[in-house]
Amino acid sequence: MNGTVELIIDGKPLTLPTVVGTENEVGIDVSTLRAKTGCITLDPGYGNTGACKSAITFIDGEKGILQYRGYDIAELAKKSTFIETAYLLIYGELPTAAELQGFSNQLTRTQMLHEDLRFHFDAFPPSAHPMSILSAMIHASGAYPSAENRGKCPKDAFPFQAARLISQVRTIATSSYRKAHGLPPTYPKSNLKYTENFLHMMFSLPNEEYQLNPEVVKALDLIFLLHADHEQNCSTSTVRMVASSKANVYASCSAGVCALWGPLHGGANQAVLEMLEEIHNEGDDGSKFLEQVKNKVGNRRLMGFGHRVYKSFDPRAVIIKEQCDKVLAQLNVSDPLLDIAKKLEEVALHDEYFVSRKLYPNVDFYSGIIMRAIGIPMDMFTVLFAIGRMPGWVANYKEVMDDPDSRINRPRQIYTGETLRSYKPMAERV
Ligand code: CMC
Repeated sequence: MNGTVELIIDGKPLTLPTVVGTENEVGIDVSTLRAKTGCITLDPGYGNTGACKSAITFIDGEKGILQYRGYDIAELAKKSTFIETAYLLIYGELPTAAELQGFSNQLTRTQMLHEDLRFHFDAFPPSAHPMSILSAMIHASGAYPSAENRGKCPKDAFPFQAARLISQVRTIATSSYRKAHGLPPTYPKSNLKYTENFLHMMFSLPNEEYQLNPEVVKALDLIFLLHADHEQNCSTSTVRMVASSKANVYASCSAGVCALWGPLHGGANQAVLEMLEEIHNEGDDGSKFLEQVKNKVGNRRLMGFGHRVYKSFDPRAVIIKEQCDKVLAQLNVSDPLLDIAKKLEEVALHDEYFVSRKLYPNVDFYSGIIMRAIGIPMDMFTVLFAIGRMPGWVANYKEVMDDPDSRINRPRQIYTGETLRSYKPMAERV
């Protein structure tokens, strides 16, 4: 490609420039298309549309590659931690020891919620899904300025707000769990690390301190790390969309939580477990269920399989599967749902229906099983995904805010409704 492409509309040629990324991805820049021809592009679901340039995460779905800021996910999974990776995503480089300590101190300083926020939790019914509480409370926490950011311009306040959001999402998440289960509130402890503190706030009781198991802490930290960013997925695009109007980081990220909730996105980890439980309760070993999926009975899908971008394998699923086996062995858990999951995977990976459509296990297929083994209730699975994804959302928010050329996101449409007609008086309507 020589830097341009030619588009012919009604016999008239139009030269459009191409844009090449650092990994040689090629895009056709159509930003002048409408002005020059009156036409727009139509790409439902955005499968062929680049909405932005970004330097945060690279994915090659054909080859199963995922890199954060140029670092391969498998290397980060082995050598890094969730918090170090969060810093990398937001600030672009791995932190020095002093930078990591500074970030960690900031997370500790900001981990307590404003005490008045407790009243907001009380207003939710016990049946509320933790994802609706999470999104509402992230938004609400933005209404509580602290002494540290009051009076500062938003750009100066960003490092503080980023740390506060990443730290408090965990406190909000565990508070929503405790509320839903009628448990007394817990407070974070300054001597515990990020993931340890999450487990402590989830499970400690006033009369019984939760005993931290290093293997469990490691597995959960890995789950957070593997979810930390994933390029322009539905929730991240939502965060960028809201940020493009210059809304604040709390509003933008709470919108991200809403987008994540759906079963086709982050809600898939809960949907996987629900599917496995249903198969188990019906006494099926998975075979009957797979037949229904292939015959599209009730539009059933094999949850935890398939991905818009990955077409050979999801590198996160490979890492998490290994961790899943380790955790179950270490905790000495034998789970009939895991047996069903293994059977589904084995059959689907060799079945023409799944192979021809390039459907492979994604990250959600095994993360739910680990979380279940740790004792995380099913309705908290997507909340844990949101905790993990927060650094990615914050990094994308920052990228939008730092871009001097950023414009408000405002897609166009092809209108397919009625053409102009006259108002019909009530008496003439049938
Ligand atoms: N089970 C059965 N069939 C499927 C599945 C599945 N999980 N996923 C796609 N298909 C079929 C689909 O029916 C269609 O078949 P046909 O060509 O006969 O009409 C074909 O594959 C293409 O499907 P699509 O809906 O056009 O694919 P998409 O790229 O729009 O959807 C997806 C991607 C992830 C939404 C989809 O694969 C899916 O629904 N998977 C199950 C939900 C899931 O696990 N989501 C988590 C994604 S990973 C976490 C995250 O990053 O959000």
